[in-house]
Amino acid sequence: MTQDELKAKVGQAALAYVVPHTIVGVGTGSTVNFFIDALAGMKQQIIGAVSSSEQSSARLRAHGIEVLDSNSVAQIPVYIDGADEIDAQGYMIKGGGAALTREKIVADIAQKFICIADVSKRVDTLGRFPLPVEVIPMAAAQVARQFEALGGQAKLRAGVVTDNGCSILDVIGLKITDPLSMEREVNQWPGVVTVGIFARNKASVCLLGTPLGVQTMMF
Ligand code: 5RP
Repeated sequence: MTQDELKAKVGQAALAYVVPHTIVGVGTGSTVNFFIDALAGMKQQIIGAVSSSEQSSARLRAHGIEVLDSNSVAQIPVYIDGADEIDAQGYMIKGGGAALTREKIVADIAQKFICIADVSKRVDTLGRFPLPVEVIPMAAAQVARQFEALGGQAKLRAGVVTDNGCSILDVIGLKITDPLSMEREVNQWPGVVTVGIFARNKASVCLLGTPLGVQTMMF
């Protein structure tokens, strides 16, 4: 099976977690695109979606799914999104698509985070994938120096401006053995908007696409 076929399978499998007559939280990325396309088949059964990026909002609207303002929604049952890495505890690295801040906001509104990913995303220790960090542009160099002190090397993602008008640093060389404390620490650095460690908002469930079928991991 190709990686895209695995992504399509988990996108389809995620429909089972959509709660009828509610608002669905929708993430960003190529795996989520498969989910959005599948969701179109049950659009009459949901009220609408809260989306984590302009890209996903456009795709949802193209399917005739209403996109609601996150500020108008107090709580949603599920948020469905991909990941760049996920470990055995459900901790994730996210932000490969530069949507990490809005992803964390929508995940925070949701009762459950349903991660959909192909098996290549499953790791023992987070940190092989360059850690995305959204920063206020004038803080980029100082935040990069802070990562250097931790043994990482941060590089500005060229040509990328997030939906929030900010920049992305991608950090390599980190071994993230304590995701919760690193998330807490980096979030405090001045100019950091969001670090792409999802530990506080970890997955509740991961639907992992493998050549043998969709494996369900519960956390
Ligand atoms: C976007 C993300 C994505 O969920 C992550 O990059 C995975 O993307 P894909 O499904 O395309 O592999 O965090 O900011």
